[in-house]
Amino acid sequence: MERTLVICKPDAVQRGLIGEVISRLERRGLKLVGMKLIAISQELAHQHYGVHEGKPFFENLIRYITSAPVVVMVWQGPGAIALVRRTMGSTNPQEAAPGTIRADFGLYIERNLIHGSDGPETAEAEIKLYFTPEELVDWERSTDRWISR
Ligand code: RTP
Ligand code: MG
Repeated sequence: MERTLVICKPDAVQRGLIGEVISRLERRGLKLVGMKLIAISQELAHQHYGVHEGKPFFENLIRYITSAPVVVMVWQGPGAIALVRRTMGSTNPQEAAPGTIRADFGLYIERNLIHGSDGPETAEAEIKLYFTPEELVDWERSTDRWISR
């Protein structure tokens, strides 16, 4: 079953939107298999967003993601990676479709509330970056058979 890494970024935590994010993904039917509140170190931020090194927004992005605690989560379900990306909305909240998290709560690209892995390889790498195998729980949910086959 597909898994993806989701981060409630510092602005989502500061604004009391952790529950909102979790609630939307839960209601969608995805299953939470890992979660913790952490402060992202400079080193971890550089590892996570290394692909953007050299871009004009990189320094701001590192400052943003390390500025306050974040909540990191792993969500599981069929097509979880793309499903989370669609639920988040476009990178720039100004362009995100109404009803998405970034559109409903965001205004500015550098305060866009949430991260979601963008493909199977990045999901696998990002989950390893934030979680040990022991921190992920493969659990039976009694509603699973009502949500997927
Ligand atoms: P994320 O990785 O955080 O899930 O976001 P994303 O895939 O939608 O966007 P990405 O291109 O990977 O950019 C990573 C984060 O960098 C910040 N950003 N700022 N000022 C700018 O032009 C700009 N572009 C990107 C955003 O916080 C974006 O989520
Ligand atoms: Mg990205």
